[in-house]
Amino acid sequence: MAQSYKSSDKIDTFLSDHILRIIMNRPEKKNALTVAMYSKMTEFLSQAEIDENVRIILIGGAGGSFTSGNDLKDFLENPPRDKSSPVFAFMNAISQMEKPVIAAVEGLAVGIGTTMLLHCDLVYAGKNSKFLLPFVNLGLCPEAGSSFLLPPLVGARNATELLFLGEPFSAERAKELGLINGILEDSEVLKYAEQQARKLALKSQTSIRLTKAMLKRKYGQIIKDTISEEAELLMKRLASPEAAEAFAAFFEHRQADFEKFNK
Ligand code: COA
Repeated sequence: MAQSYKSSDKIDTFLSDHILRIIMNRPEKKNALTVAMYSKMTEFLSQAEIDENVRIILIGGAGGSFTSGNDLKDFLENPPRDKSSPVFAFMNAISQMEKPVIAAVEGLAVGIGTTMLLHCDLVYAGKNSKFLLPFVNLGLCPEAGSSFLLPPLVGARNATELLFLGEPFSAERAKELGLINGILEDSEVLKYAEQQARKLALKSQTSIRLTKAMLKRKYGQIIKDTISEEAELLMKRLASPEAAEAFAAFFEHRQADFEKFNK
């Protein structure tokens, strides 16, 4: 059955050549993701999975950013209340996709902007892109299965450093860590990712999906469980005084002061 992918809630879609592009489009906020945007992305991923016309999903960002992660204002005003909340539904949807997902990263990939890449099958990034896992700096904890997926991908030492310090890292470092497949000129990323998607779209989709399933067969349940355990912790951390201090600090353009919570 033909599906419709009506762009809305700052998520644009474009389907051609069996490739569904899902583009986060809120450049004035560096494509920070709201509850509505998560819901839309989850809806499109779910539709794509059952749409015979879609073979490959390509995720990108508009206006020179991939995404600055969870919208901190929206996160405060509409925090996830249970594990079926839109942010967790998105994590589950992208982690369970049977069809290939390709990411084209231009600019910032913060928080879920980086952790969603762990669920993408191929990732291409612009040479000036920046990656960041700021969970500790926000008084939060890892999400999207990253506490399980990062160590085997980038090495336990690197995973700890990236998560503890929450410092931005370059495309070059991301490539060295194995987080991305390739580095392109910024303006070429989407085009290159589309070329790769077109190549995949011409191959046997049964073989591609079987290959994806085989590559993930040992980890599917562990990833689901990790997302769920992290979700439980994240909901608690979001209600913590440390998170309140970190979020206030962001909007007040100052450094967070955790000292009073460490005594
Ligand atoms: N949530 C809410 N608003 C955000 C945002 C986010 N995650 N990221 C950016 N914005 C907003 C800024 O508040 C700013 O809004 P304003 O123009 O109304 O002041 C606008 O988007 C542009 O961002 P700005 O900070 O001016 O751009 P920058 O290039 O100097 O810095 C970031 C970009 C992403 C490094 C910085 O905005 C940032 O650290 N954002 C928070 C990232 C984050 O912690 N995400 C959550 C992960 S769980």
